[in-house]
Amino acid sequence: MSKQPNAAPNINEQQLHIQQLKGELRRLQSMAALGELTGTATHEFNNVLMTIINYARLGIRNKDEPSRDKALSKILEASERAAKITNTILAQAKNRSESFEPTQLGEIIDSSMMLLEREMRNYRIAVETEIDPATPAVQASGNQIGRVLLNLLINARQAIVEGGTILVRLAPSSEAGWVELTVRDSGSGIPQESLPRIFDSFYSTKSGPDESGKGGTGLGLAACKEIIDAHDGRIRVESSVGVGTAFIIRLPVAVSAQAAA
Ligand SMILES: Nc1ncnc2c1ncn2[C@@H]1O[C@H](COP(=O)(O)OP(=O)(O)OP(=O)(O)O)[C@@H](O)[C@H]1O
Ligand SMILES: [Mg+2]
Repeated sequence: MSKQPNAAPNINEQQLHIQQLKGELRRLQSMAALGELTGTATHEFNNVLMTIINYARLGIRNKDEPSRDKALSKILEASERAAKITNTILAQAKNRSESFEPTQLGEIIDSSMMLLEREMRNYRIAVETEIDPATPAVQASGNQIGRVLLNLLINARQAIVEGGTILVRLAPSSEAGWVELTVRDSGSGIPQESLPRIFDSFYSTKSGPDESGKGGTGLGLAACKEIIDAHDGRIRVESSVGVGTAFIIRLPVAVSAQAAA
């Protein structure tokens, strides 16, 4: 009854099992991300509806022309925003294939920012975006990169305690054939000794979800890394305690964009 002959198949079986669990984890993460996105969007949509209802009431109460003009222009503004929110969700639902295709990251940045606008304002965070219009399309799944961006933005928000700034920057990389996406925050920073661990699954310094129900599992950055690796891209971090953190992502330019250049 030697254990030796069983050792090899067992390891193979375990590896297969780990592969299956990883696949399952990816599927659950993608469902959780869509759920979170829909939750945030529904919340936003409701806020916009409240604005429309309130200004409609104001317009009915006040018969004078300036009040009615103001009410109508506020209603128009809010309705346009509502249309933008539903369009974002519809675009996400349509692009469920997760396939890699030429993708303009500027659009992904805009829709992620729109969904987090109110949350950022509540935490007194000023978000700046710097999108170089000369940035070529990348070969990517817009859905997956959107997920990476949301994870990084939520981490950045959670690292900022008493108000601060987040900068999202998109530009062609100094190295030809690559695009660079940076998320920089003025938050707490990460101690040098923790940096090697932040991309590990289940590594978290958060005690649990915060008051907006986010954070604490330690899977956010692991998922980001896995997604960027699958794109043949790179993700790296620069951080300084008390100053802030930057995550810098490099993605390959789409072949069609290269040909057009
Ligand atoms: N922008 C940041 N500033 C400071 N620390 C950060 C930042 N991003 C990540 N970290 C550190 O890295 C850890 C791992 O981040 P990760 O996103 O993987 O997990 P999490 O945010 O704790 O939980 P979740 O799975 O809900 O995202 C965090 O707990 C935090 O200590
Ligand atoms: Mg996180």
